[in-house]
Amino acid sequence: MVKVAVMGYGTVGSGVVEVIEKNKDMIQKKAGQEIEVAYILDLREFPGDPYEAKLVHDVNVIMEDPEVKIVCETMGGTGAAYKFTKAALEKGKSVCTSNKEMVAKYGPELIKTAREHACHYLFEASVGGGIPIIRPLNDSLTAEKIESITGILNGTTNYILTKMEREDKSFDVALARAQEKGYAEHNPEADVEGYDARRKIAILASLMMGKHVDSEKIPTEGITKITPADFAYAKAAGRTIKLLARAKAIGENSLEAMVSPVMLDKESPLAMVNFVYNAILVKGNMLGEAMFYGKGAGKLATASAVVSDVIDCTRNLGRKIPCDWDAQEATVEDAGNNVCAYYVRAKKSAKAALLAAFPEGEALELPDRAEDLAYFTKPMAHSAFVSACESLGDTVLGSIRLG
Ligand code: HSE
Repeated sequence: MVKVAVMGYGTVGSGVVEVIEKNKDMIQKKAGQEIEVAYILDLREFPGDPYEAKLVHDVNVIMEDPEVKIVCETMGGTGAAYKFTKAALEKGKSVCTSNKEMVAKYGPELIKTAREHACHYLFEASVGGGIPIIRPLNDSLTAEKIESITGILNGTTNYILTKMEREDKSFDVALARAQEKGYAEHNPEADVEGYDARRKIAILASLMMGKHVDSEKIPTEGITKITPADFAYAKAAGRTIKLLARAKAIGENSLEAMVSPVMLDKESPLAMVNFVYNAILVKGNMLGEAMFYGKGAGKLATASAVVSDVIDCTRNLGRKIPCDWDAQEATVEDAGNNVCAYYVRAKKSAKAALLAAFPEGEALELPDRAEDLAYFTKPMAHSAFVSACESLGDTVLGSIRLG
């Protein structure tokens, strides 16, 4: 029997206990031995909870029990969670986590610590919730040179954008609806400003490069400036708008990476991903494209991914689980050099100036929009696009990359 401790009895932590209990027999069969939750660590009390007897408030109870071989870290943040993770690994206890902030920041260090102490640091649940993506990158796609990874990695923003598109709602109204539904946090900044997606693409990009990609160096733009007018023009042009997180290898050591809204052709596979669903498109040099699609968040979906790591650890106690993520840092190229075409929304009075600033582009005017128009540029470097927009001053009302 393998004893497991769960640190953090919130949404995901309680889901982990539930998955282990509900699927006990099947998990035992797959893991090769019984898995038992021995302790649940939390500062709070849970009177009447069916697992109340397992609750502890002192992490040392877990650290000092030699029978605990695996710890699930579902606390979040990089404060106490980092200290406890490091301590567990140094004691040879494997750690399975859903904590993307921790993985993005300390991934290579914690993987190395685990290796030095003959245990594992696994993080399938840190990206895409229940969608298997970390294990495929580490395992199934090992014959591939991964060229790029593009994903819809944040369920909250995808829900907001889907609502804006389908119900012609403003960003604020769609956000309020997401909050009512319990998708968006009370403070939704990390989601709507793109920081959550940035951490997730940094993790995937690090696995693609085999080197550390610092999430803070990835240029990031959120969805707060998207308007119903942008969706009206997107619809007329056969497009939709999605928040994409992208990473593209351009050498052994360098990559392009970005999080930003993109106006996508309606036929593109990512354009069809709606509401809280996530999808990740991986391009390999032999395989071509493969898409991973499913629930990117939620208690049981995310917990299921944590428990899959627990099973992996149990099957591989004392053995290595490959994970190619070195501490050496890969260079994120200057975003100014990124080339793409743009959609620009501008005052109608600026039509001639737009044609002059962006030669060979195409204007789109809608009969029910008297004040503005849309303009689609040819591909150009981001720095040149920014200068051209600056020259147009306040006649430019908004812009989005085309994809
Ligand atoms: N806030 C995240 C999302 C939760 O909306 O996708 C899952 O990481």
